[in-house]
Amino acid sequence: MKEFDFLVIGSGIAGLSFALKAASHGTVCILTKADASEGSTKYAQGGIAAVLYDTDSFEKHIRDTLVAGAGLCDEETVRMTITEAPERIRELIRYGIHFDKRPDGLYDLHREGGHSDFRILHHKDNTGAEVERGLLEEICSHPNITLMENQYAVELITQHHLGQWVTHHTPNIECYGAYVLDSKSKKVETYLAKVTLLATGGIGNVYTTTTNPITATGDGIAMAHRARAQVSDMEFVQFHPTSLYNPNESPAFLITEALRGAGAILKDLKGNEFMQKYDARLSLAPRDIVARAIDNEMKRGGADHLYLDARHIGKTALMEGFPNIFAKCLDLGINIAKDMIPIRPAAHYQCGGIVVNRNGESSIRHLYAAGECARTGLHGGNRLASNSLLEAIVYAHNAAMDAIGKIGNIRTCKEVPDWNADGTILNEEMVLVTQTRKELQELMSNYVGIVRSDLRLQRAYNRLSLIYRETEDLYKRSVLTEELSELRNLISCAYLIIRAASHRKESVGLHYSVDYPPSGK
Ligand code: FAD
Ligand code: SIN
Repeated sequence: MKEFDFLVIGSGIAGLSFALKAASHGTVCILTKADASEGSTKYAQGGIAAVLYDTDSFEKHIRDTLVAGAGLCDEETVRMTITEAPERIRELIRYGIHFDKRPDGLYDLHREGGHSDFRILHHKDNTGAEVERGLLEEICSHPNITLMENQYAVELITQHHLGQWVTHHTPNIECYGAYVLDSKSKKVETYLAKVTLLATGGIGNVYTTTTNPITATGDGIAMAHRARAQVSDMEFVQFHPTSLYNPNESPAFLITEALRGAGAILKDLKGNEFMQKYDARLSLAPRDIVARAIDNEMKRGGADHLYLDARHIGKTALMEGFPNIFAKCLDLGINIAKDMIPIRPAAHYQCGGIVVNRNGESSIRHLYAAGECARTGLHGGNRLASNSLLEAIVYAHNAAMDAIGKIGNIRTCKEVPDWNADGTILNEEMVLVTQTRKELQELMSNYVGIVRSDLRLQRAYNRLSLIYRETEDLYKRSVLTEELSELRNLISCAYLIIRAASHRKESVGLHYSVDYPPSGK
């Protein structure tokens, strides 16, 4: 049994930012299921949206966020996040994180879809890697922080593990820490904490094609759901319009929206522009509109990809502004100064998740969530580009401040029993896990992707029910493995997406159904 004041699950921007603040007020343990730097944060390209100069304004950023969110954002949350952004950005800079500057010394701001101004702070086209580097360097030099890699959180510990019956209606559910599988020793250890933060990232691997790394299996959302926390807005899965079409590569390599901000244009297989048919903002329309337009053009033409044309931007500007994309494409024989880039949409971001208030508190006591696994109300029906790194730092800060204020009154629960593995045997047939995962991803991609219908959702639900029953049965009798637990979490997230999508009897934001509005209306 291990004991800390703060337990942080996840080592992306949200978990690391929280840990750095909490560490002055107690012992902190950061658990991460892979290497410390692995997670979506490292792959973020475009940057962080924030209003830094008088040429832009908070009101404009707020308006852009609300418009993208399709009327479903929590306006107070939007206002808070956007006005707190500059201070959080200054903190990142104080940690030694670099953002690109212009020759006159001002920050070089990019523009992305749905933004009415240039406000994306970036480090070349690999902003996330620079942010992760800077945060990890700070973490490693902090004496109060223990960072443990290859530690897979399996389950949150609540009164349920003390023998109490816990339902969604149980008042005052409390979190006491987590059961954690050591990927090397294969032992499950009990981690007790006064405060637990879920910062486990997204769910991209629910789908066949995703920009998300393999770590994005919705573990935090699924664990919180099983612990009976409130989860919401899961139907709003954002598909990025432009991942590089390279069928055998997983995760799909992202072609940042900032390239369209710099002038790149979407084209069909014949090299013709098509966005004028869909939106006056053309290639820089909000992501949901662009992704749907590409999906429609691909389906109409029977194509498995379309193109992004960046040739007119010029070789020097492309190599200087987008060096990683330039090099990656060249590696595959695509010279983006001469050739169009083959692209297709890919599952990219989960706007919903664990419901938290403005202090990052979930509906379970002493359990906080921040980053992509949290549903704060900032994104509503559709996230504005580059608002997620921002949301992560603002909520990590607010959660840390709230937890620091409360931790003096929280006691560690010492009555927690060890993990019970009685009656389980080694699952010798990995195919039961790998094939089920593929089936799940295919049914979600085909029935619950960019465009949905009532019939597709019903089919998806029926198929998922079978997969769910088979996997629960396998889980109960098998010795715990990360692969099996991840599959279970993917199934839970798929269920939450289908359930939320089926309840929403309208097309709004990222949830688009051919059945709504009903024809004739
Ligand atoms: P992550 O960075 O994903 O970290 C999650 C952590 O949790 C990882 O350390 C993982 O190992 C750990 N973890 C998960 N499950 C467990 C478990 N069971 N036990 C232990 N550890 C666990 N957003 C922007 O704002 N701007 C951008 O330019 C941008 N570009 C993007 C480009 C790509 C290719 C992708 C994939 C996303 C991009 N996003 C961008 C979105 C943004 O990067 C993510 O939303 C954000 O980084 C999420 O941070 P996080 O800390 O919540 O999670
Ligand atoms: C991108 O660079 O296009 C991704 C930005 C984001 O997901 O916010």
